[in-house]
Amino acid sequence: MATNRPKLTPHTLRQRKGGEPIVAITAYDAIMAHYADEAGVDIILVGDSVGNTALGLESTVPVTLDMIVHHTAAVARTSPSALVVADVPFAEAHFDFGDVLRTCQRLMQEAGADAVKIEGGETLAPTIARLVDAGVPVWGHTGLMPQQVKQLGRYKKFGLTPKETAQLVADAKALESVGCFALLLEMVKPAAAREVSAAVEVPVVGIGAGGNCDGQILVITDALGLTPGYVPGFVEKFADAGTVFREGLESYKSAVRNRQYPRE
Ligand code: KIV
Repeated sequence: MATNRPKLTPHTLRQRKGGEPIVAITAYDAIMAHYADEAGVDIILVGDSVGNTALGLESTVPVTLDMIVHHTAAVARTSPSALVVADVPFAEAHFDFGDVLRTCQRLMQEAGADAVKIEGGETLAPTIARLVDAGVPVWGHTGLMPQQVKQLGRYKKFGLTPKETAQLVADAKALESVGCFALLLEMVKPAAAREVSAAVEVPVVGIGAGGNCDGQILVITDALGLTPGYVPGFVEKFADAGTVFREGLESYKSAVRNRQYPRE
């Protein structure tokens, strides 16, 4: 259900550079989207982290376009005031332009996303330029790109050397120059993130990139204390929903076992 705040758009978010920090969170279904929107977040990302979180997969690599379409549609049906962004899954952005455009067409027309997020740096800039030209708002994602994990061998921090930082700045400038309305910077040393942020006029939303960005994003299950396994060190738990779930289910179990539920 839409809140009564005005709908966030790529245009309004673009203007938040250096202003009120942008708050972004992932969500994968209608209930999560409902609470995220009610809390007043700016961006709901239907991330390919749906693989590791909701679907029990080991990484984001096996997440398919059909999966993202399915979950984005559930989020978009709640008509949130937040901007709904759908992740372009593994490899899709590297196909011929017609196929990339069709991927974005599905995410926007069939699933109802307001914008897409694409992992990639300057090498993807020509594709992104054509998408923007076709009317697809693109949130560029650089720094650690989890879809590259098989090639990288592990999840690692970026911006640790002057060369890596220079590449991050070059990627950010290239993505800005082709019309990305914002950038997402993942797992970047805070000093390097500050440099990247200062080098572009579009807002940079960070995750594991320190406090010098124009906003922050977290995976919802991590932020709410629902992730049962490993959680990255930079995450702060803003609620202990895991305990609330477990205690609620234990109460239900004992009420049924003790014949206290259903009551007459
Ligand atoms: O898929 C995802 O959840 C992401 C994170 C960086 C937020 O891309």
